[in-house]
Formats: sequence, structure tokens, C-alpha cells
Amino acid sequence: MGILKDRFKAKADAAAAEIKEILKENGTKKIGEVQLSQIYQGMRGMTGLVTETSYLDPQEGIRFRGYSIPEIQEKLPKAKNGNEPLPEGLFYLILMGELPTEEDVAHATSIWQRRSHVPNHVFAAIDALPLTAHPMTMFVTGIMALQTESNFAKRYAQGMNKKDYWDPVFDDAMDLIARLPRIGAYIYRRKYKNSDHIQPNGLLDWAGNLAHMLGYSDESFKELMRLYMTIHADHEGGNVSAHTTHLVGSALSDPYLCLAAGMNGLAGPLHGLANQEVIKWIFEMQKELNTDLPTKDQIADYVQKTLSEGKVVPGYGHAVLRKTDPRFTAQMGFGKKHMPDDKLVQTVWNIYEAVPPILQSLGKIKNPWPNVDAHSGSLLVHYGLKEYEFYTVLFGISRSLGVMASLIWDRVLSFPIERPKSVTTELVKRWLKGEEVDIWGE
Ligand SMILES: CC(C)(COP(=O)(O)OP(=O)(O)OC[C@H]1O[C@@H](n2cnc3c(N)ncnc32)[C@H](O)[C@@H]1OP(=O)(O)O)[C@@H](O)C(=O)NCCC(=O)NCCS
Repeated sequence: MGILKDRFKAKADAAAAEIKEILKENGTKKIGEVQLSQIYQGMRGMTGLVTETSYLDPQEGIRFRGYSIPEIQEKLPKAKNGNEPLPEGLFYLILMGELPTEEDVAHATSIWQRRSHVPNHVFAAIDALPLTAHPMTMFVTGIMALQTESNFAKRYAQGMNKKDYWDPVFDDAMDLIARLPRIGAYIYRRKYKNSDHIQPNGLLDWAGNLAHMLGYSDESFKELMRLYMTIHADHEGGNVSAHTTHLVGSALSDPYLCLAAGMNGLAGPLHGLANQEVIKWIFEMQKELNTDLPTKDQIADYVQKTLSEGKVVPGYGHAVLRKTDPRFTAQMGFGKKHMPDDKLVQTVWNIYEAVPPILQSLGKIKNPWPNVDAHSGSLLVHYGLKEYEFYTVLFGISRSLGVMASLIWDRVLSFPIERPKSVTTELVKRWLKGEEVDIWGE
């Protein structure tokens, strides 16, 4: 790992010097204005964070260090005989800011293989929960139990120079990423497969090993995991899981505490839990209509019913995106290649035709197009992974790549504790009357 760390530090030092120079020259420049409504409405459209790993273009979708999803599908190294990018390569790209070679990816794989041991007390902590507990509750419990292994927490307690914070954060991030597939698979096999656990295969790549431990030996499911883990990894910094991880990290909480916090955010139905909601919603629709391939008209009626009940159509809409999510399109490509005749996958495609015009007609929804969650579950169901409550754990394992890479950058760039100003409506009213009040927090 020394080589990777040294290379990272050299890049980070150069980036830190550049940022210092940018701020020296331009630190007082205004980048926008804040409207009163924005502070009541989730700070939408307010730039307030720097996240180096990726940038979300509302029209084009995510770019990881400048590379779009189709570009990373083409340019990142693949497994032997595989076609999908290896998530190790995506991690290297977003951490280092440059495309990895085959050798760099093999190096990342071997680091994660070597660091993947999960201590027994983590399994004991998960086992202490009832089987009825949601997989995300088990996942966060596992991450929290693993916190005993934090290098950052130990070194901070011993006393360490601020300049060195990034170093144990780097180690913790790599350890955590390496261990999450084992924890995720353990949860799956415990909850759904009678605790018939499968030992890791130390020769497999990170996502391939996850597929193996979940209980899949066929190559196309391994390929799906590689694609899935790559495309769910990062979505710039303002989404709930990324922002939470970053925010908690700003208090110098160690990476385990940060990731657990971020994962609690991912477990919300408007964020990562939407992938389970989509499949649940489709299964309910199939049941109610008594067909496994509803027509577009039937889907349209069912969508109207969902809306009339005051519910959202899961998998549609986005806080930033304004077009079909390229992560949806990438999964559609996988479906067309591997399972074009699957009825559930076809239903997802029919929903894609039926839903946007209906949402558009409501006039209030800023983005009527599908997001990543609209597609992912149907591909998993095709392989027999029907237990949709588990899906957000898979999302979480992938998301660890993005939020951990960002956390390393946060510490190496010495970002301070995050503390935006808040106001009360009482203060707003006084400000509106023209009183001299401290609305800007100056
Ligand atoms: C993702 C999401 C939370 C973004 O929220 P947002 O930025 O506030 O979205 P908008 O500004 O377009 O919302 C405007 C209105 O449209 C509604 N809306 C947005 N997406 C909707 C959907 N898929 N179905 C029904 N109504 C929707 C909002 O609830 C809001 O209604 P309100 O004014 O009555 O409160 C929202 O689109 C949503 O709930 N989608 C479904 C859940 C989902 O797929 N989440 C995963 C995101 S990756």
C-alpha cells in the first residue's frame, strides 16, 4: 500500500498548494446569492461544498474525475474475460484523479484481499439483532462494531500532529472497504439463507468475491456486481450519504463512525432505500393487476393510483439530475445484453415509457426521468436475489468507495469542522420588517 499512499500524498500536496493559491487570489469572490426559499427547501441549488471525486451535471449525469459512465465502462480495466469495469479501478480514479493501469487495479485488489479479515465480534454484534431487523440496521451495526479497529481513533487518542490525520484515515478507509463485502454477504446469508455462510475466496476481485459470498458462482452475476459497485459509488458531495459522511468526518470522527452515519442516511426511502421501494412497488402492481407483464396503459393507471394516494413513484425524480440517469441507462444496457426477455426487466422498461409523461403533466416535478434505483432491483431479481430489503446494503457497499475516497481528501486538505449558520423564522420575520438582525451569521 506504501506506493499508493506515496503517490496519493504527492498528488494531494500539489492539489493543496493549488487550492491555497486559488483562495489567496480569489477567496473573497462571490459565487452566488442565497434566496430565502432555499434555506427552507433543502438548500437546493446552493453550492456549499467541495468534493473532488466526482461532479454531477444536471443534464449529463455523473462524471467521475471528468469521465462519464459510458467512458468509464470503456476505459477502466476489466476482469479477465469480463466486460464490466472493476470497481477497484473506479476507486483508483476518484482517489487519484487519473485512470488506473491494469497493474494499479491489480494492486488495489490485492490490498483489499489482504485487509479483508473481519473480527468475530462484528459477526457476534450482528447476530445479537433479531432476524427481523432490517438489513441496513444489521449493516450499520456491523460497521459500528468494526470501529474497534480504527487506526485513526487509536492514533488520535495517543496524540498526533494534524498534518498526519490523513494517513490513518487512509488506512481505515482501505480496511473498511476491504471488509464490507464480507459483512454484507454475512447479513444476506444470515437473514435469508439460514446462516449458511460462504467463506471468502481470496483469489477473487472485490466485487467478484462479494458475488461469491452471496452465493453466486456464475460469471454474469459477478459482472453485474462489478458494474453495480462501480456505478453506485459516487454522486458528488451533496447527496445525503456523501454529505453526512463528510459532515461527521469534519468533527474528526473516525471513518467507521462517518460511514455508519452516512449509511443511516442511505437507509432513507428518498435516498438509497428507493431501490427496495421500486421492486416492492412493482411486485405490488403485479399482484394487484394479476399479471407479471402489465401493459403500458395498466402501468399508467397504477401510477395515477400511487399519486392519488399521496405517494411518490419510487425510482423517478432527482434533486439535481434533469435527464434520464446514465446509471439507469448503463443497467438497461446490461439488461439488453444478458436478459432481454425477462418480464420484470421489460416491465421496468415499460414503466420508463409510461411514467415520465404522467409526472411531467403534474407540472411540479423538476425531473420526471428515472434514477439509478428504477432499474437495479430488476437485474438482481433476475438472478434470484429477490429479497429487496437487502438491496440498499449493496448500494452501501458501493457507496463506501466514493465517500471514503472523499473523506481521505477532506483530511489531507485539512477541511475544518462544518458549521453552517441557521436562523429561526422569528429572526426571518424581524429581518423582513427591516430590523437589524444577524441573518448572515457574520
Ligand atoms: C429524489 C427526490 C427526493 C427529489 O426530491 P426534490 O428535489 O424535492 O424533487 P422536486 O423538486 O422535483 O419535487 C417537487 C415536487 O414533486 C414531487 N415529486 C418528486 N419526485 C416525485 C416522484 N417520483 N413521484 C411523485 N412525486 C414526486 C415532490 O414530492 C414535490 O412535491 P411537493 O411539492 O408536493 O412536496 C424525489 O424526486 C423523490 O421522492 N423521488 C422518489 C424517490 C426516489 O426515487 N429516490 C431516489 C433518488 S436517487
